Amino acid sequence: MFNSISNQASKLLNLTRNKEVNSKTKIITITSGKGGVGKSTFTANIAYLLSKRGFKVAVIDADIGLANMQVLFDLKPRYTFFDYIEGRNTITEILTQTSYENITLIAGKSGYQYANLKNSLVLTRVVNDLKSLNKYDLILIDTGAGLNEYVQEFLLISDNVLALTTTDPSALTDVYALMKMLSVHKERLFICFNHTKNYKIGETIANSLVNLAKKNRLNQNFMVEYIGNVSTSSNISTTSRLRKLFVHEFINDEITKQFHKVIDSLLNNIK
Ligand SMILES: Nc1ncnc2c1ncn2[C@@H]1O[C@H](COP(=O)(O)OP(=O)(O)O)[C@@H](O)[C@H]1O
Ligand SMILES: [Mg+2]
Repeated sequence: MFNSISNQASKLLNLTRNKEVNSKTKIITITSGKGGVGKSTFTANIAYLLSKRGFKVAVIDADIGLANMQVLFDLKPRYTFFDYIEGRNTITEILTQTSYENITLIAGKSGYQYANLKNSLVLTRVVNDLKSLNKYDLILIDTGAGLNEYVQEFLLISDNVLALTTTDPSALTDVYALMKMLSVHKERLFICFNHTKNYKIGETIANSLVNLAKKNRLNQNFMVEYIGNVSTSSNISTTSRLRKLFVHEFINDEITKQFHKVIDSLLNNIK
């Protein structure tokens, strides 16, 4: 099963390579394998802090299972990503300005029939068209759970892949599967731990994943970059429920500082 995923990934990578566009825009894809680890919450919050640091940010909600970015940003978008894919709207029509300066949302759609997109590389086209607008410094792509072909296409077109995980064994198993897949085609993976109080714990677990990769002889040039941790707080889920962003409401909280630290590491390392 893994080989067939890998073959598919190789084909995709070759195709996407030919379609690269010249642009200043950097892409960061946020993934996890396991669902419910906090990807969308994390993505929305880092989008805000990045925008406050002066970056123009576009967020793509690429979760076709549960597209909830519009809820986190408290928006009712007129059009989604898929209206562009299906040719009903132009790329600029699917850009929804959020109430936060310098954050644009490309909304998703829950329950989209992925089979319609299979092998078509339309996702690559949307991202490249967005890059070509040259309006954004950063495009953050929030993917759904799992490592299906749809998620893989986003991983392969992205120079920067960030795995958000918890210390839960099943989440770590999924991250390792992700490492295995990416190590064939990519140079590295950023890892950030959510629901993790202690920076050191995240670091120790990230190191043990690296050691496991060595032991199993994954590609030696593949690097895992630990970029930090985010604690659990009921204020995070409460602010989300109220359709607000935690880091916007709790500017000086210790967890907001953790988010800042993650962003410092990310900005020092992305390409
Ligand atoms: N650090 C955290 N502390 C407390 N609750 C969190 C934290 N991160 C995420 N959550 C909550 O966990 C739930 C799942 O988060 P979500 O971002 O939707 O996950 P995913 O996108 O990975 O499926 C949401 O209710 C969210 O508010
Ligand atoms: Mg999500």
